[in-house]
Amino acid sequence: MKVLLVTSLSAIVASLSVRAAPTNPPKGQQPVSYYSLEYQDNLVNTANKIKGSGLESHYDPELYVYPEMIEPGRLSIDCDTEAMKRDHSDVAQLYTPISQQLPHENAWCAYKTGQGYVASRTHFPGVTAEMIQWWLWWHSASSERYSLWHPWAHVSVSSSYASKFNDSSLSNFDKLVGSVHDITEIIGDTSMDISIHWKNGSVFGLDESKFKDAGIVAWGFGEIYVPKGGPLKAVDMIHLWYQVEDGLEQRSRYFLANNVHLDIPVLGDLIPVDQLGDLTGFKNLIVGRHLAHEQFTHDQQEMTHLASILPGVYKEFGPKAK
Ligand SMILES: *[C@@H]1O[C@H](CO)[C@@H](O)[C@H](O)[C@H]1NC(C)=O
Ligand SMILES: *[C@@H]1O[C@H](CO)[C@@H](O)[C@H](O)[C@H]1NC(C)=O
Repeated sequence: MKVLLVTSLSAIVASLSVRAAPTNPPKGQQPVSYYSLEYQDNLVNTANKIKGSGLESHYDPELYVYPEMIEPGRLSIDCDTEAMKRDHSDVAQLYTPISQQLPHENAWCAYKTGQGYVASRTHFPGVTAEMIQWWLWWHSASSERYSLWHPWAHVSVSSSYASKFNDSSLSNFDKLVGSVHDITEIIGDTSMDISIHWKNGSVFGLDESKFKDAGIVAWGFGEIYVPKGGPLKAVDMIHLWYQVEDGLEQRSRYFLANNVHLDIPVLGDLIPVDQLGDLTGFKNLIVGRHLAHEQFTHDQQEMTHLASILPGVYKEFGPKAK
């Protein structure tokens, strides 16, 4: 069985003429060494779909990460004292210039009540803000594009704004903010069906007029609903990219099972199920330590990989492509 799998993977890799083995990690990186069975099965799926898509040359199953994720990956911080606040009252710390290290920039944890927190810092050498802002909507036009981002973990995507994508009078933000991305992806060993509702930073108390001074040049904010298409808002997601000398550097923050509410207005109010969740153990069911830990690893993998493919994808398919 094991031999079969290896054979089919190397056949896929060979037929796509991508690097055959992770023998030469990019500078400062090292190969990912653990691939869940769910990852392995999905790679066969994405590799088959990519054939004939015109995206083959950007499909690269070799995954690398930076070694600085290892130590924080194997030991959680204390959510009660070391995580950013769940009510986002300390969100202004993200205006701190990227040259300065914040406490616990790479970290994950879970509260006793089941909510999770993830902080992740990743490098984007050779990547521009324009590439990021374009990619955030462009990838959502097809599941094949989405799979380039993480060939092992990404399954499918669709955007509620797809009909806007060919309108060249619209900005990158017009094609993202306010849209809903319906997504299936594998977090560690768990297939998740989610909807990302893309928002402005104000939803988490961030003032976009302060970004320039803070060196923040690209961003994306999402409220994640679980499951896909459902009314249950479960996760707050913050992605910020800062300018550095050789490209960009990213800070991501995820607040899992945070301020959970049902998006069904009753007498004008959203129904908060946050407290109910604490009582019933509901949050432990959907999040807990497992998902917080896996999401940290997931972010490190997908963002490091995105940085490696994005300049090439943008060159071939971006607005300046000939
Ligand atoms: C957008 O344009 C491309 C070709 O340039 C075409 O394949 C695609 O169907 C168009 N999409 C929509 C939603 O019109
Ligand atoms: C986001 O902010 C811009 C202005 O900065 C505004 O035009 C737009 O309507 C906002 N979109 C959403 C979905 O809140």
